[in-house]
Amino acid sequence: MSEICKNWTQWLKQNRFAGQTPEMIEQTTKWLEAVRDVILVYAEIMQHETVIDIGCGTGLLAFKALEMQDCKGKVIFSDKFQDCLDDCKKILDESGVTEGYEMLLSPCEHIALPESSVHKALMRSVLVHIVHKQPAISEIYRILKPGGKFCAFEPVIRSNTRYWEILDPMYIEKYGDFKRVENEMMENELDSLCNFDENTLRMNLEIAGFSIPEVKVQEVASRYVVQAGMVPEWFNNPPSPGQPSTKERYLKYFDEATVNKYMQDVQNYLTGREISLRSNAVFINATK
Ligand SMILES: C[S@@+](CC[C@H](N)C(=O)[O-])C[C@H]1O[C@@H](n2cnc3c(N)ncnc32)[C@H](O)[C@@H]1O
Repeated sequence: MSEICKNWTQWLKQNRFAGQTPEMIEQTTKWLEAVRDVILVYAEIMQHETVIDIGCGTGLLAFKALEMQDCKGKVIFSDKFQDCLDDCKKILDESGVTEGYEMLLSPCEHIALPESSVHKALMRSVLVHIVHKQPAISEIYRILKPGGKFCAFEPVIRSNTRYWEILDPMYIEKYGDFKRVENEMMENELDSLCNFDENTLRMNLEIAGFSIPEVKVQEVASRYVVQAGMVPEWFNNPPSPGQPSTKERYLKYFDEATVNKYMQDVQNYLTGREISLRSNAVFINATK
């Protein structure tokens, strides 16, 4: 397992921007705010309501919800990991905010809240880190009041551009072997990152009890020139704390010299080239 990233707050503040230029970091930050704003438009939060941000991390959704409620309702900052709650609480304390929120250390598969106790459940990029999504989605349904809403965003990594699509077999030794392994890794049913898409999520929501949930696919296309140093970051940076990096995943199939050669070939081929990438995601808007 990768030792590069020790916890979620470190990942959210540093690792997620690995390999990005300052301009790309600015774009990512703006995109995160835009995603947050769509989730909050869907949620139609009212001031007196109880709102939970599940897997709040550094508080992207919860802080904005608290601002929208002007601290007159209740925003529950909820996460499985204490470092995330500590980070959010520090910001609240430093800002002098003393009411309108609660901290809840709880995994989303077993949320420590009574049935039908919240009006709105918000979430961004959490299910993608949970192997078994049905128990988590059913648990969200359980804690919502009748008429309550679950509004979320999740990346659908399985349909993203794969490395082999942007490479040329002429320049990459063992291109075919790595293509086969990459496809196998992206279709691994036990890998939380890629064991789902919009159809499986819709099915999970319906099984949980949400009637006619909206699951809207968003396709984002990006184009940029690969700069020196980006490729090693792609391979060495873990997708989340405690999860293996792409290089570590390849090492389950090939020896280190072969993986290093592949990485070097990819770097030599891509550096200085303009690439086009497709990255898909879904917005969920579901009512109990
Ligand atoms: C990619 S981060 C997203 C953080 C935040 N929602 C945001 O949009 O910036 C994933 C978050 O999910 C949390 N998480 C991972 N597994 C979880 C689980 N089983 N239950 C609750 N939270 C979990 C992590 O601690 C982390 O804060």
